[in-house]
Amino acid sequence: MLEVRDLAVHFGVINAIKSISFEVNEGEIVTLIGANGAGKTTTLRALSGLKTPSAGTITLEGRDITALSAQDRVRRGMSHVPEGRRIFPDMTVLENLELGAFLRKDVVAGDYDEVYQRFPILSERRRQLAGTLSGGEQQMLAMGRALMAKPKVLLLDEPSMGLAPLLVQEIFDIIVSINKAGTTVLLVEQNANIALQIANRAYVLETGSVVLSGPASELAETEEVRRAYLGG
Ligand SMILES: Nc1ncnc2c1ncn2[C@@H]1O[C@H](COP(=O)(O)OP(=O)(O)OP(=O)(O)O)[C@@H](O)[C@H]1O
Ligand SMILES: [Mg+2]
Repeated sequence: MLEVRDLAVHFGVINAIKSISFEVNEGEIVTLIGANGAGKTTTLRALSGLKTPSAGTITLEGRDITALSAQDRVRRGMSHVPEGRRIFPDMTVLENLELGAFLRKDVVAGDYDEVYQRFPILSERRRQLAGTLSGGEQQMLAMGRALMAKPKVLLLDEPSMGLAPLLVQEIFDIIVSINKAGTTVLLVEQNANIALQIANRAYVLETGSVVLSGPASELAETEEVRRAYLGG
């Protein structure tokens, strides 16, 4: 579904991503875990076209999308839920969802109903300004907005950030159900514990390089991952 080959990203002279390669197969949940500054967000931004890589190729469903604009990548089926949610605070919940669908010409009322079924709280709050939502609700809105584009691949950047454990569990249950309904997921997380529980496969990123990869259940058992990311 998604193939990344020898991707490198620079910020001036800083080499934030150093030639990483990975792939996400159709139907999988793949997680990219790593500490602060490892390059997780930068990788997702390069995938979705928000940051131009200095080298490498990104292939979506067999087609090279490296040179495409961010909008064209959305049209091809890739949606990005950014770190920090980035909802539009002065617009209503409904308006935020409408913006998620703005590249589509085939939007029907049922698309909103689908999002509202997945996130009933958004339905209750549809006329409320998004900036007044709680952190968890904003995360749901950011995910709902991305789903309005009907993605084949959903890129999620730290959906657990700043949320209480119970809410994190709820969000992750929803990610699993979105995946079961047919959307491939690339999940970036600092919370390796929960990410490894729902992912099929995982890549560990350290200072811009992939240092470990494999089935999520196997990685969760390795000494290195346990010590560095799972607290013993
Ligand atoms: N706009 C920028 N300008 C300069 N350096 C940047 C910029 N964005 C990121 N970096 C650097 O790139 C590296 C990777 O940052 P990135 O945000 O991708 O890490 P991360 O893994 O997402 O971290 P976190 O878990 O804290 O979100 C860091 O060293 C960071 O300082
Ligand atoms: Mg980040």
